[in-house]
Amino acid sequence: PFGLQREVDAYLNAYLSKKSMKRGNFSANSLSSLSGGNMAMNEGFCEQPEPLLRNNVVMEKIIGRKSLQLRNKQQEWQESPDGQKMNEFRRSLPAYKERDALLKVISENQVVIVSGETGCGKTTQLPQYILESEIEAARGAACSIICTQPRRISAMAVSERVAAERGEKLGESVGYKVRLEGIKGRDTRLLFCTTGVLLRRLLVDRSLNGVTHVIVDEIHERGMNEDFLLIVLRDLLPRRPELRLILMSATLNAELFSSYFGGAPTLHIPGFTYPVRAHFLEDILEITGYRLTPYNQIDDYGQDKVWKMQKQTQAFRKRKSQIASAVEDALEAANFRGYRLRTQESLSCWNPDSIGFNLIEHVLCHIVKKERPGAVLVFMTGWDDINSLKDQLASHPILGDSSKVLLLACHGSMASSEQRLIFDKPEDGVRKIVLATNMAETSITINDVVFVVDCGKAKETSYDALNNTPCLIPSWISKAAARQRRGRAGRVQPGECYHLYPRCVYDAFADYQPPELLRTPLQSLCLQIKSLQLGSISEFLSRALQPPEPLSVQNAVEYLKVIGALDENENLTVLGRHLSILPVEPKLGKMLILGAIFNCLGPVMTVVAGLSVRDPFLMPFDKKDLAESAKAQFSARDYSDHLALVRAYDGWKDAERQQSGYEYCWQNFLSAQTMKAIDSLRKQFFCLLKDTGLIDLKTEDCNMWSHDEHLIRAVICAGLFPGICSVVNKEKSIALKTMEDGQVLLYSNSVNAGVPKIPYPWLVFNEKVKVNSVFLRDSTGVSDSVLLLFGGNLSRGGLDGHLKMLGGYLEFFMKPALGNTYLSLRRELEELIQKK
Ligand code: CDP
Ligand code: MG
Repeated sequence: PFGLQREVDAYLNAYLSKKSMKRGNFSANSLSSLSGGNMAMNEGFCEQPEPLLRNNVVMEKIIGRKSLQLRNKQQEWQESPDGQKMNEFRRSLPAYKERDALLKVISENQVVIVSGETGCGKTTQLPQYILESEIEAARGAACSIICTQPRRISAMAVSERVAAERGEKLGESVGYKVRLEGIKGRDTRLLFCTTGVLLRRLLVDRSLNGVTHVIVDEIHERGMNEDFLLIVLRDLLPRRPELRLILMSATLNAELFSSYFGGAPTLHIPGFTYPVRAHFLEDILEITGYRLTPYNQIDDYGQDKVWKMQKQTQAFRKRKSQIASAVEDALEAANFRGYRLRTQESLSCWNPDSIGFNLIEHVLCHIVKKERPGAVLVFMTGWDDINSLKDQLASHPILGDSSKVLLLACHGSMASSEQRLIFDKPEDGVRKIVLATNMAETSITINDVVFVVDCGKAKETSYDALNNTPCLIPSWISKAAARQRRGRAGRVQPGECYHLYPRCVYDAFADYQPPELLRTPLQSLCLQIKSLQLGSISEFLSRALQPPEPLSVQNAVEYLKVIGALDENENLTVLGRHLSILPVEPKLGKMLILGAIFNCLGPVMTVVAGLSVRDPFLMPFDKKDLAESAKAQFSARDYSDHLALVRAYDGWKDAERQQSGYEYCWQNFLSAQTMKAIDSLRKQFFCLLKDTGLIDLKTEDCNMWSHDEHLIRAVICAGLFPGICSVVNKEKSIALKTMEDGQVLLYSNSVNAGVPKIPYPWLVFNEKVKVNSVFLRDSTGVSDSVLLLFGGNLSRGGLDGHLKMLGGYLEFFMKPALGNTYLSLRRELEELIQKK
């Protein structure tokens, strides 16, 4: 059905093959540099002494000498006063008691599962024990330990901590590597990396040559990458009998993993935590003196409407997640819904479908005013509500008083300088309040926390395979997660945990969260399976711990065919191979490649970076109108969120050159931090594309790229296709429709939301999310012709006028080599018109 798209793809593949051949690409070297980006860290992963050992006596001597050096250095540190102090701390951790047992079971078994309370020393200690024991045995220089983390921030924080515990700087024996960033040296023997980075290494080195130990951390989270990695590693083990695999998990679902690995031994580290008192909503009301008034006595809120909407979506909810409907039932049984929360000052409502900022504010106030000293950890669902809550609290008379309260945010994409504040003890008399996402559940330990506030939700992606629609809804957490959150309060003394939901809701929670593999679209994963040459996608995935639905797999494969990454026989195309190397989603990778070919890479890199980091446009909830009009200024009536981003970035970059980047962001409701992240990602993309030979080595990333709005629109369209919806301007409203979902809506912060008319027949979008209706996130208006040439063959009226423009336009921006393809496209277009 996508005839024209195929033409473009055929051209693209031919073009890419030629480029690749010319540059002799896809050598191991260029691939590892691709996953690295930073030139300084390109020489492999950890050094690979093994093949050398076998056939080179000189190398053997060098490695022996290095091992002795390592041993001496380690001894020196351990005997130094600082080293002794550090060791004293390390010995106090529960893991230390199990050190010998751990090392023994690891040496005797190829696969070992280690579980233990968060904070007992799995992540920081266990990899170190292995390293130390190898060094003590004078095998230090021959070992290479890789420890994967699900998140960048934990890989970075943990490596820094471990280096400090060893009295070293990062990049000596300990290093880290995350997407597009890392510190490691020639002699790095213990590398903390994200799971994604290890998967990328497997692309070039399928047997993990030279690696002696792989440690997969936080497997209880059941992230998609971790589940995927486990399939690959399980296949690899028989081929690498000397390789050791250690799986580390916080909560107690260790048996599941043990049976997956043929009954591998599990070792539990008994931990010690202080008791934590759990307060549920009903207790909180009592403690803090708020009153509940039955809903039927108040009629001004329109709860009825909310309730009705809930009922309507219940069918969907049931399918999506049993927890949601179980919670509904529990609430109904306990007659909790329809109550509202009444405080002396204001009326606020406890609504199970939203997170009550006022309630959180009241609880925090109570802690600050009445409770004993100790830091507070607040679990929120994501970056946006953390930010909004932080803004709200900052203007509170008590909580916003910085001489009494230190208000911090903690989320996955935070700068490392900001990170450190979270771990530091505040001055005496200052209460530290950390607003965190669920990453503070397991992967980060803040030692001085005594109070935990748990909103009961986490932003969870789910995937509706029937409608091929991803959903991102703050969902109720599992019992395991709630327990885990509570446990964070008992690290240094007995603690208190405020669960902001009734006990009956807790009782309705599922025991564990379903694995991510069952909750997300599988496109990137399927592409990776193909590029790792792991055979048939569906056969491979059927060997997962909990295999995904066949329909999800089918959708993903179909998508990869439509965008041209796989051919009809499910083989990787050249385009697909390029896409698998770029560390962004396939569609964004395609955008980058086209941006390079059509010489508008500058703005396209901005769009891709923006889409793969997060939205830099801030929408503080009390200044939403101001923020929306600030964003609208960037849109200049071109009906594109993506182009608005390009303008905002370009403006920021100019301001930054004059040292006024911060003011610029402040005035325009932009996140300076996100702008910086986008900036650095752009740089990385640029290096990567240079490495693949798609842009000339002499090219500099400055403003020499075309900023032609139509061209950028076309490239965006090519990347986002088939993410497309039709626009019908009605008299009073605009109707938007996608093929799969029918009627869809726009998020209110889109520049296309609320305009009287959209003068484009189509919108392409990056993401759609099902909440109650299907909402489109960022969108860009495109014309028929752009869609025909760059998207699929979804022809509609109005071609004639466009075609004329198209001819001259293509000649203007396309490289001469595309002439032939263009001619055949044009012929097809003309035929189409004649048919009409
Ligand atoms: O992985 P697990 O949750 O078992 O614990 P860990 O991350 O290895 O942390 C063990 C202990 O090291 C924590 O309880 C903290 O006391 C300490 N730690 C620290 O002080 N600073 C860090 N950045 C990380 C850990
Ligand atoms: Mg850990």
